[in-house]
Amino acid sequence: MDWGMKNRFSKIIRPETGRTLMLAVDHGYFLGPTTGLENWAGAVKPLIPYCDTLFATRGMIRACIDPNTNVPIMLRASGGTSIVGKEFLHEGITCSIEDMLRMNAVGFGYSITVGMEWERDTILDFAKLVDQAERYGLIAMAVTAVGKGLGKDARYLALASRMAAEHGAHIVKTYYCEDFEKVVEACPVPIVMAGGKKIPELDALKMAHDALQKGAIGVDMGRNIFQSKDPVAMIQAVRALIHDNIKPKEAYELFKKKAKG
Ligand code: 5RP
Repeated sequence: MDWGMKNRFSKIIRPETGRTLMLAVDHGYFLGPTTGLENWAGAVKPLIPYCDTLFATRGMIRACIDPNTNVPIMLRASGGTSIVGKEFLHEGITCSIEDMLRMNAVGFGYSITVGMEWERDTILDFAKLVDQAERYGLIAMAVTAVGKGLGKDARYLALASRMAAEHGAHIVKTYYCEDFEKVVEACPVPIVMAGGKKIPELDALKMAHDALQKGAIGVDMGRNIFQSKDPVAMIQAVRALIHDNIKPKEAYELFKKKAKG
């Protein structure tokens, strides 16, 4: 790994803890104004002080985030299809490496659709982008297991995550499952856990804690933060769980203490 990529890694994975809290707010690229992100800027800005990285599209970053803001950016670089379209998740490249550099991004996230009709297209496009990213020391994160009906168990998630690493991913984002340690064992690059659909706050904290115990280096969490009853309190609880190594119950107490009302 060259100096530039190491330096970018040190911005998103806190060297003191070796962990990261990425805030995923990219959902609009296929969902439009999803619940909790209707007013994207209003929802995201109060959360920025507590995250280590913002994962979003270039359009929202440019339109809504002041360039003076001191937060590392990972850009969503796949897309092109919507939740209401015929070829949902038949994604292609939506952001060039030049634009990532222009925006001073640390890297990008790209969905590979292992097990779906168009897996070949998404994996080959991801690999092409990895080639280009490596020329400039940008970090490539593969997002796995998006989509319904995939049977998201350890066997599938290990297959998808390992394939992501084999095709050049520097980080893999995947979902939590029973026997999550098998997914981590099979994947030679760091794994961050996606939050998935909204669940009660204590359950989300337990899930994140379990993923960390089983080897994830952090989370790239969206809905379980921005759809929480109190997103600012929730992100602080997730942060304490990740960086201060507290237990889920303590984190939940912190959430309740910080929550307004
Ligand atoms: C699916 C994604 C999401 O847009 C998002 O980043 C997932 O975050 P969460 O599941 O925690 O809401 O990666 O393509």
